[in-house]
Amino acid sequence: MPQSKKPRLQATKAPRESVRILITGGRIQRRIQEIAKQIRKDFPDEPLHLVSVLKGGVFFLTDLARSISGEVSFDFIAVSSYGQNTHSSGQVRLTRDLDSSVEGKTVIVVEDILDTGMTLQYLLRLFEQRKPKHLRVAVLLDKPERRIADVRADYVGFSIPNEFVVGYGLDYAERYRNLRYVGILTLGSDTKKVVAEK
Ligand code: PRP
Repeated sequence: MPQSKKPRLQATKAPRESVRILITGGRIQRRIQEIAKQIRKDFPDEPLHLVSVLKGGVFFLTDLARSISGEVSFDFIAVSSYGQNTHSSGQVRLTRDLDSSVEGKTVIVVEDILDTGMTLQYLLRLFEQRKPKHLRVAVLLDKPERRIADVRADYVGFSIPNEFVVGYGLDYAERYRNLRYVGILTLGSDTKKVVAEK
């Protein structure tokens, strides 16, 4: 839940939640096919090692991995943050390391969303120290308005506005990750109440 660890609500009663579709499952799948082709075109003869960040990146990783032709392997890493100001304060912490070394490999970091960029900045620094042959980044969603860290993705599915989005791996209090689409979450009738805040 990167966009708002603690969404601020004014309502005293539990609000009604609803999700408005922003990107359909069909569009997501078509875009993933395009990204997969582009990645293989950029690295025509190389085994590719996809590294996904738990938990949100899992669906993107599995769909992307199955769409890239040729040799593909993958691994997982998990990071966590300290409290509400995690990303903006840069306090990203490794909670689960990779199973295998990335040295000499062509590594694609696979993320569901690039938001402030603090997580990606941490990961890129970590992986660069481990001497991969190539290091690239694929994100399904990019929220450029939110950027704090000076990082960018090589492959972007969709650039989206600064709305609180759920689905396709993205959660609100661990829910909605299993939606096939990406939607904007609203609580009650006031969308402004769930605009991302950190
Ligand atoms: C999300 C997302 C990225 C990160 C992006 O993870 O999967 O890893 O936040 O945010 P940033 O650009 O501001 O650093 P989150 O911490 O919500 O964990 P999750 O994937 O388990 O939901």
